[in-house]
Amino acid sequence: MRMHRKSHLDERLLSCGEILTIADLTDKNMKNAAAQKEELDYNKIFGNNNLVHLEIGCGKGKFICELAARRPDINFIAVEKISNVLIEAVERAMDEGLKNVHFINSAAEVLPRYLKEGSIDKIYLNFSNPLPKLGYAKQRLTHPRFLQEYRLFLKSGGVIVQKTDDGDFYKFSLESYEESGYEILEKCEDLHALNDSENIVTEHERKFADMGKNIYRIIAKS
Ligand SMILES: C[S@@+](CC[C@H](N)C(=O)[O-])C[C@H]1O[C@@H](n2cnc3c(N)ncnc32)[C@H](O)[C@@H]1O
Repeated sequence: MRMHRKSHLDERLLSCGEILTIADLTDKNMKNAAAQKEELDYNKIFGNNNLVHLEIGCGKGKFICELAARRPDINFIAVEKISNVLIEAVERAMDEGLKNVHFINSAAEVLPRYLKEGSIDKIYLNFSNPLPKLGYAKQRLTHPRFLQEYRLFLKSGGVIVQKTDDGDFYKFSLESYEESGYEILEKCEDLHALNDSENIVTEHERKFADMGKNIYRIIAKS
């Protein structure tokens, strides 16, 4: 379903410039991104040297805003390629006065351009599109080509925390982590049965859980 472009989107994005890096979305080539560095200065953005965690595909930002409020000792970067969706996340963070979140309207493919080598301790992949159709595997955010790319900015020993409602995508991802040399620290096929009070329920997670679907979680170490 196509979403209507939000009114005054460009002006609204510009007015959030303090917590938003507006990326150039014209070239999504991974190799070019790594070659054309425009690294973010975390110290300047956050005003401290705290650890940095990253969410890729943050949608409307419920997860990252709740997590940032809960963990003021961590800096968060949240990335979303659809500006029309991202604006809700950025405006929410501004309204809540969060100082430890920064957003990039970027595709995962171009992140090495903005993120310093070895600068990220944790990556969250929440309900990334499973893209089940034949021929789309390379676009999945846990395809080996992405898992290799993440190593350009994920610290050695850093982790990826992935949640999904899709059993096939869960299996695909497990194989992909193993093939790419990540160590599986946790694989859980019914996260909500754990009653983990630290789990922050995302927009999609709420929807799928309410439909009675199992929520899967993988934690993989680089
Ligand atoms: C199914 S939604 C999940 C949103 C949110 N994480 C949640 O759990 O409610 C997946 C989001 O990832 C974004 N996305 C998909 N591929 C991406 C990519 N290559 N780079 C950045 N964002 C991407 C989509 O635009 C979409 O907003």
